[in-house]
Amino acid sequence: MRILGIETSCDDTGAAIVEDGRILANIVAAQDIHLEYGGVVPELASRAHITLLPRVVQEALTTSKTTLDQIDGIAVTIGPGLLGSLLVGIEFTKGLALARDIPWVGVNHVEAHLVSAGLESTLEPPYIGMVASGGHTEIYHVPEPGIFHRVGSTRDDAAGEAFDKIGKIMGLPYPAGPYLDKLARGGNPTAVPLPRAKLKGDTLDFSMSGLKTAAKLFLEKEPKPIPDARLKDIAASVEKAITDVLIERLDQALTRYEARAVTVAGGCACNTLIREETTRVAAAKGIPARFPSPKLCRDNGAMIAHAGSFALRRGERTPFNASAIANLDSFTPLPATS
Ligand code: KG4
Ligand code: ZN
Repeated sequence: MRILGIETSCDDTGAAIVEDGRILANIVAAQDIHLEYGGVVPELASRAHITLLPRVVQEALTTSKTTLDQIDGIAVTIGPGLLGSLLVGIEFTKGLALARDIPWVGVNHVEAHLVSAGLESTLEPPYIGMVASGGHTEIYHVPEPGIFHRVGSTRDDAAGEAFDKIGKIMGLPYPAGPYLDKLARGGNPTAVPLPRAKLKGDTLDFSMSGLKTAAKLFLEKEPKPIPDARLKDIAASVEKAITDVLIERLDQALTRYEARAVTVAGGCACNTLIREETTRVAAAKGIPARFPSPKLCRDNGAMIAHAGSFALRRGERTPFNASAIANLDSFTPLPATS
């Protein structure tokens, strides 16, 4: 089956062609307009998707030497995400599906991240998956294909948000995560004491906001300009604190639930220390750690095509009266398929 995957849930416009788990093209246009605002502006994101999506789809078709007649199905992100952005991808999909009589299905964006590593390596349930990006930081148990149980999540900031907000105070460009990662490589992770919040009760949830506030207070007191060596130590300490919070919960999830693998996806899955530490806790349990390559960590159409391919193969179809579900989670039933 040759599937067109469309992703417009946030500020990346993505389209991909995936055939039986093989990526033939995966085109992502990043929307630079948000850089000057230091964060995503929803209205601008929707407008940019309108302009970019037809071009990105065309490029995916050209790169993979695919004509519209060769498309067996379309998978599109139906939620969660920014309402206006989601609508652009969904209504574009409906138009194409209607004009060409192509089957289509709506896909849960978080579930697509959770299966994305399966495009490049073997990832078969049961497994534990963490999605860590600018918008989400959640841990899931995937007991069997198509079943996603959220077992823990952040109570406040997402991991990417913590990297970005602390990085901003350090004077790093937006998004700060990749810059902080690079700086941290030369630093001492024990140089700056930062808190790791402990939540009460039997929970795999976690919190990032105390850490962010502590880093902010600490940085305000730091003499300016901060010398390079000191900046590296701060970056390494911040990265270690964020990673410790995530890895403690990931490790607990691996102890609590049956898992033959662990996967981390989303932008923060590119982080050097998060990868190292995930690999370490997985090895201690005797299971592999699967990470998508950087291009598949961020939002992209290939993971949407891959996630949608299971439903399309089963013959499921999303009805034309279905629409975006901005706050969709893995316990919300997708619109009834026909
Ligand atoms: O998945 P993504 O591209 O977009 C969404 O948020 O949906 O994730 C972007 C986030 C940003 O917060 C960015 O700072 C973070 O991922 N990020 C990283 C790294 N690369 C991207 N954080 C830490 N280390 C990295 N190497
Ligand atoms: Zn995402």
